[in-house]
Amino acid sequence: MHIGIIGTGAMGSALGKLWAKQGHTVTFSYSRNPAKLEQLVREAGQNARAGTPQEAAAADVILISVLWGLIDDALAAAGSLKDEVVVDCMLPMTADDSALAIGHTTSGGEELAKKSGARVVKAFNQIFSDVLAADDRKFGADTPTMFYCGDDSEAKKVVADLIGQAGFEPVDAGRLERARLLEPLGLLIGVLALEEGLGEQIGLKLLRR
Ligand SMILES: NC(=O)c1ccc[n+]([C@@H]2O[C@H](COP(=O)([O-])OP(=O)(O)OC[C@H]3O[C@@H](n4cnc5c(N)ncnc54)[C@H](OP(=O)(O)O)[C@@H]3O)[C@@H](O)[C@H]2O)c1
Repeated sequence: MHIGIIGTGAMGSALGKLWAKQGHTVTFSYSRNPAKLEQLVREAGQNARAGTPQEAAAADVILISVLWGLIDDALAAAGSLKDEVVVDCMLPMTADDSALAIGHTTSGGEELAKKSGARVVKAFNQIFSDVLAADDRKFGADTPTMFYCGDDSEAKKVVADLIGQAGFEPVDAGRLERARLLEPLGLLIGVLALEEGLGEQIGLKLLRR
């Protein structure tokens, strides 16, 4: 599968490297620094390449991993994403990164779907990039949970497979509107790590019986 990454910061670079290692072709894009993209391609190995956001948008699946304040710029650079399978790992934060800019009655995931016309699946917003960049996703014997949600069942199946390949147990949280719940959950993880002293190597595990 060809995966396009739009936004190659902590999240985009870590997820792109994981998927390239799984044998997917990965196009990294949307950096102000071309040398950084080339370095990333060298680190990610033979399945990776650098490209423009439009080239990334031509992939089978597109990860959008930019700061929320850059979403309109990133979408303009990508061109049409109508009906494309888009993974949205973003937290729609205020410019000072202190709080969610939207919530309760909508979500970043829903707004991205409205803006782009893409088949958006929210995922990877409840984990730190440090866990994605670590050698392994396991916490002892436990595989962490990754909740995901979206309105298109075919897109969700594709993304669930990518979640599994990244080392998580995918758990379907339902329709895209559930991003209103998953985005605050992501912020809780951030607050636990950075303000309550748990550190960034934390993850969620859903227990069932
Ligand atoms: N980091 C985490 O652990 C984490 C966890 C969950 C969710 N998220 C969400 O995931 C998204 C990406 O987060 P991240 O931590 O990967 O962000 P980041 O490291 O700051 O990366 C943002 C990317 O956007 C690019 N960019 C292009 N034009 C830019 C501009 N004018 N100003 C700033 N950046 C520009 C940056 O490229 P250059 O700097 O190379 O130009 C960089 O590749 C965010 O919505 C965040 O809330 C992050």
